[in-house]
Amino acid sequence: MVSPFEVLEVDEDADDEAVERAYRERVKRAHPDQGGSIEEFQLVRRAYRELSERDGNGDAGDGTDPADVDLTEGDDAREPRSTRVEFLDYEAVVDYGWSLEDDELFRKAAHADLGPDAHGRLLVHADESLLEAAERSGFAWPFSCRGGACANCAVYLAEGELSQPTDHIMPDDLAERGFRLSCNGYPLTDELSVVFNVKQRPELDDLILPPGPFTRR
Ligand code: FES
Repeated sequence: MVSPFEVLEVDEDADDEAVERAYRERVKRAHPDQGGSIEEFQLVRRAYRELSERDGNGDAGDGTDPADVDLTEGDDAREPRSTRVEFLDYEAVVDYGWSLEDDELFRKAAHADLGPDAHGRLLVHADESLLEAAERSGFAWPFSCRGGACANCAVYLAEGELSQPTDHIMPDDLAERGFRLSCNGYPLTDELSVVFNVKQRPELDDLILPPGPFTRR
């Protein structure tokens, strides 16, 4: 059986920082949109989870941050962990006059009287894109092409990281500012905070596809 060190391509004495670096590099290559497969992607996430749950002596368990325990996967540490997402509808940001760059944005949202579709939490499983997870959870987030060729599904990433295939349409400057595509974005971190429905932002105007038969919103 291949060890998690072999999967992440790190030495067995690698420290946490080296493991984290290796994971971020490795999970990008394992991504299905980058030539990898769902199986490889899950294998890499599982290897990272195994290593991150070891304490300094290499024993599993004691060093785990309680906040990282996956309540959806039971006690089986071999299962890939789901990513917890806190989401916020951009329409609420506009209605309340908030700013995307506000560090207090999600705290403000938690104290506002927003409906469950506008602000809440969901889980993304290891083999799901962010959009797929939102839909499985019963939310109707915007989309059009579902293939990285428009910005109808765009989200703003306030915290965490979401992978993007190399052939996506999002310009580098917008990606650097935190804009991502939810239809083909797979979580690279265990926690995400995202503002969805940002396609109405003026900087995304040129990337939006006109409404089609399969377009939502
Ligand atoms: S729906 Fe077009 S890029 Fe996601």
